[in-house]
Amino acid sequence: MTTFQPGLFAEPGRSSQYLEYRLKTASLAELRSALKSAVTPVDGAFIAVAFGSACWDLLQPAWRPAQLRDFTTQSSAEGHRMPGTQTDLFIWVHGEDRGDVMQAVVQVGEAMAKVADTVLDLSGYKTRDARILTGFVDGTGNPTGDKRVKAALVPEGETGAGGSYVIGQKWTHHLREFLDLSVTAQENVMGRTKDTNIEMEGAKMPPDSHVARTDIDVDDVPMKIYRRGTPYGDATDKGLYFMALSCEQTRFEHLIDSMLGKGDGVIDAMMRWSDAHTGSYWFMPSQPDLEAMLAG
Ligand code: HEM
Repeated sequence: MTTFQPGLFAEPGRSSQYLEYRLKTASLAELRSALKSAVTPVDGAFIAVAFGSACWDLLQPAWRPAQLRDFTTQSSAEGHRMPGTQTDLFIWVHGEDRGDVMQAVVQVGEAMAKVADTVLDLSGYKTRDARILTGFVDGTGNPTGDKRVKAALVPEGETGAGGSYVIGQKWTHHLREFLDLSVTAQENVMGRTKDTNIEMEGAKMPPDSHVARTDIDVDDVPMKIYRRGTPYGDATDKGLYFMALSCEQTRFEHLIDSMLGKGDGVIDAMMRWSDAHTGSYWFMPSQPDLEAMLAG
């Protein structure tokens, strides 16, 4: 199997930093050199890098991931928006120890300052029981073992094998209003119980719940993705950074269409309590493909 970038499947990943960049005017040699410094291994932290469509073409004109396109603004009939704020580069630093992660983040920041403007620099965290700010457990429906590799990586034999399409969206919640709902109403929004984290079954699963809108098949293929997002922030600016890896960008696009009610008009109830503020797609090449891009 083509080697993927380090740490993609390392869990739980209690500490994360999500960094998004727009390129400044710099030579290709400067960009390559900055990226090489940025991804130099740091003990206790993983540093993974992914490229937006325009940046990909700069660094690797010889070939491109077949489905890599920019994230464009999407809306539902009720006016919920998922804005497209496409950035050029995404760097995900994660590990278990905040100090180790911060050492890597400082290295990345110093290296990238010469060639790119920082658009997003967000600290994510994972609680012991993986509960997000709304109190629900996040990540349970993630595939495990071989299934997560199948969901996350472009398969052998295809262009970009060992790489992943990546989505990043910064969300905030209408937290007070959501928590003022009865627990039953909150559970109906999510499609899982809150304390016991059990998926609702059969007729009990509301068709507009988040799980009903995201546990979907298209042409008999389950739209499985591997989610690595976490809650982020501090006492004032806080929410969820939704980040996920997939073998196909179209899986994200189908999931987003489903949440926005495209096709059947059923809108994900979660969108009444959460707002998306950013949205980008990138491609995270395999380790050998990354090395080839940085070598020029
Ligand atoms: C504020 C934003 C979001 C929040 C708070 C959120 C939260 C959750 C929670 C609590 C679950 C149930 C537990 C689990 O299986 O992990 C879940 C499931 C899931 N979410 Fe989200 N999510 C958000 C956005 C999104 C977006 C934008 C997508 C897709 C583009 C998505 C895709 C999924 C998928 C695929 C599942 C698993 C469904 C299953 O197979 O059971 N989520 N999410």
